[in-house]
Amino acid sequence: TKPLKVALLGAGVVGSQVARIIVDQGGTLESRIGRRLELVGVGVRNLDVPRPGIDPELLTDDLDGLVSRGDLDVVIELIGGIEPARGLVLKAIGHGASIVTANKAMLADDLGALSAAARDNGVDLYYEAAVAGAIPIIRPLRESLVGDEITEVMGIVNGTTNFILDKMVTDGVSFADALAEAQELGYAEADPTADVEGHDAAAKAAILAGLAFHTEVRGSEVFSEGITEVTPGDIAAAEQMGCTIKLVAIAKLTDDDRIIVKVHPAMVANKHPLASVSGAYNAIFVNSREAGELMFLGAGAGGNPTASAVMGDVVTVARNRARGTAGHFSPAYTRRQVAPIGES
Ligand code: HSE
Repeated sequence: TKPLKVALLGAGVVGSQVARIIVDQGGTLESRIGRRLELVGVGVRNLDVPRPGIDPELLTDDLDGLVSRGDLDVVIELIGGIEPARGLVLKAIGHGASIVTANKAMLADDLGALSAAARDNGVDLYYEAAVAGAIPIIRPLRESLVGDEITEVMGIVNGTTNFILDKMVTDGVSFADALAEAQELGYAEADPTADVEGHDAAAKAAILAGLAFHTEVRGSEVFSEGITEVTPGDIAAAEQMGCTIKLVAIAKLTDDDRIIVKVHPAMVANKHPLASVSGAYNAIFVNSREAGELMFLGAGAGGNPTASAVMGDVVTVARNRARGTAGHFSPAYTRRQVAPIGES
């Protein structure tokens, strides 16, 4: 049987690991899919940057040309940001490729339109890696819990800020030094402003809220406050009160069927499991009518953990492709009102 053709957009912290896994684990992946994956191109912005471990023949800076080949089965989008990512993804969908993306900014801006494009073209759109790195949280909300009624999703969804706050508390490191370390470890976004100002967490909260409440929420509708104003004095004061400051994302249903979605630093009592989430770990609590409370914990950022989530999606969409069952997932949205923050 013919191999499934895969193109990768982006070869940064996550993309380089994904390329390595596709090549090194080729036999294992083939046994799980039933078809071989063939990496046919890796689109990058700058061809002059060395990409150890990636066959130079595969590299191209013509991303538009790559997604327009017309013979691709799967496009893995890991360049991040809204444009040109969205245009490339829509073009790839138009040419019949299924999509795996980790791009929370793009999804939080326009998940409805992207899902509709995928549905109309009979292809898959999977994005487990967009929220909370390695932690499976998209599938639990989209599939495992879809027969239940979720009432609240709450937790830590940004590894960089959790790492910074943790370093400030446990090692007394300054904000700037902790951020520099998070960047070096590959946790932070290309522009770390998105992390420290809370926009990255807001995008993830929007995606989680949309899935949990069967609606569409945009990142711009999420109230967000980051951690740039958190001082060592605040941290000491929290400690005195038996609390730890965490950047928390909350999405919940109101009694009148609207939703509240917000991200802000919060005092978390030390006896609550969120208080002890350390380093770049994320933790998400889901409350639902029948299941009660569920907790998801694990690595929320970093190349290898995020690549794990990407590869799970790659295998899933490749299996669907191989069986001719792609594009059968079509969410039905009811538009719910996001309540203004003063009313929460
Ligand atoms: N910059 C993000 C974080 C990466 O720190 O959580 C994972 O989305």
